[in-house]
Amino acid sequence: MTTNIDKIGLQPISLLIIIFLLLQLPNHVAFNTNNEPWLTTTEPSPTPTPTPWPEQFHALLYMNLSSGHLQISNLWYDWPKGRNVNIFQKQLDILLYDVEWNNGTTFYYTIGDGKCRMVDFGVGILRPDFLDGAHYLGRVVTDGFLCDLWEKLHFMWYYEDVLTKRPVRWDFYDGISTHVMTFEIGGVLPDSVAQAPAYCFTEPTDAKPFSRDRLAKV
Ligand SMILES: *[C@@H]1O[C@H](CO)[C@@H](O)[C@H](O)[C@H]1NC(C)=O
Ligand SMILES: *[C@@H]1O[C@H](CO)[C@@H](O)[C@H](O)[C@H]1NC(C)=O
Repeated sequence: MTTNIDKIGLQPISLLIIIFLLLQLPNHVAFNTNNEPWLTTTEPSPTPTPTPWPEQFHALLYMNLSSGHLQISNLWYDWPKGRNVNIFQKQLDILLYDVEWNNGTTFYYTIGDGKCRMVDFGVGILRPDFLDGAHYLGRVVTDGFLCDLWEKLHFMWYYEDVLTKRPVRWDFYDGISTHVMTFEIGGVLPDSVAQAPAYCFTEPTDAKPFSRDRLAKV
């Protein structure tokens, strides 16, 4: 009986050697789960470091949740004011406000129906330099942009445009993938919009908790 291996002239022992050599390659070279074309496997010199986040910016985000559901988010990051606001438009569903304060308190609410949930996470918002110490993985094209890619604490994978240094995409370990559609440095949300409604401060209700697909804390 002739096997395929015989046909291409490989002895089983050579096949074993090839498999062995493949296993020696770094993971992201041999097997790339995202099927992304890795352009360089050697680091540019010097090793790129992530650009810190601007102290204030507004970004429009396209997010693919781990459940496969989609949402748009208007993100208003404001380090001087100590707050991070996400306004999530869930596909064909609610508009959810997620107002995070540096004292650890986060308000989740919808407008109009009196639903609010307050959570104390015990940690503040991301610092502008939260990517410091991230591990550089190389250059890759994602969303059509040539990006530098870092990984932080096996928690977050962060793609930054090589040319403009703007964030293009970040992925969390839990499968949430965020794609940056606009990035407006200096954009500030008016305080009145960030102010949680009065019904957040009345006595706690048994309202169903909102899902916690928020920008997690690093
Ligand atoms: C969302 O992510 C899932 C899992 O990675 C993928 O299969 C799906 O195609 C994505 N959907 C969109 C619209 O990007
Ligand atoms: C944190 O700050 C926000 C905004 O100023 C405030 O509404 C909230 O009550 C504070 N939380 C705590 C625990 O002090």
